[in-house]
Amino acid sequence: MEFDQAVAQLATLVETLERDGDERALMLLALMDDIHRPALELIVEGQVEHPVALALLSMYGLAAVDERIEAEEALDEIRPYIEGHGGALELVDVQDGVISVRMSGACNGCAASAMTLQRGIETKLRERLDWFKEVVAVEPAAEPEHANGGASLPLLHIEPLSKGGAGKAAATPELLQIEKLRRPVFVDVGAFDDLGEGKMKAVDVEGRSVLILKLDGEPYAFMNKCPSAGARLPMEGARLTNSVLVCPWHNCAYDARSGKRVDDEPDAPPLVVVPITVIDGALQVAANVA
Ligand code: FES
Repeated sequence: MEFDQAVAQLATLVETLERDGDERALMLLALMDDIHRPALELIVEGQVEHPVALALLSMYGLAAVDERIEAEEALDEIRPYIEGHGGALELVDVQDGVISVRMSGACNGCAASAMTLQRGIETKLRERLDWFKEVVAVEPAAEPEHANGGASLPLLHIEPLSKGGAGKAAATPELLQIEKLRRPVFVDVGAFDDLGEGKMKAVDVEGRSVLILKLDGEPYAFMNKCPSAGARLPMEGARLTNSVLVCPWHNCAYDARSGKRVDDEPDAPPLVVVPITVIDGALQVAANVA
């Protein structure tokens, strides 16, 4: 419809609504005005980068795409998985379709982290972002707290999935040596298929009790101790409802993926995450991290 024609029809419609006293329709018009006016004022003033102006422009698909925000949103979808395996994922940069991320925590230097990047992060980014080309993992920041200690890794380039095959790290002798030093030792704790969906059990990992569970087809593992009450009591016997794990002793509630508290004490200590993976159908838990 032509602009002039649309304006004329709108004027007639508003006149009719006012005459009929249609309050809901009038409220709708008032709300539209409340949304558009401040944004249009900003645009007229040339402040098109203002969040309010951008919000309106986005509603009409007219705002420039903020690739960094889009990348953050896509990474947010996979962060619970990574955090649930003792890692952390930070967006470092977005340039010409190349997304740089930094992995830390249990992911850093872990034998499975390149695979995690390859399979999880890249698949998610490719699925969500049509401008995405590839992901690179950059050198971790100084991480003195790493469970295995050691120096930070140099740039780790991940080959895109579309090129086929697993990603390859720059395999300098120094890097291999560093990875060897920091790589968790995984211990077989049973068949992945033997652990039912939404089920959990405590397993012994070289003398330490680890609680493993399966949620939405993914395995997760935590030290089998509730951090509450001095970390003396086991989490075994906890209730798992949706993705919340409730301690059987005093009902502290934890996110079953990240281990973080999800009750009214969000800053209380979380469950201690233990890296877990599936290799050739076997559940494997990191013994030297547990
Ligand atoms: S020991 Fe877990 S809630 Fe108290």
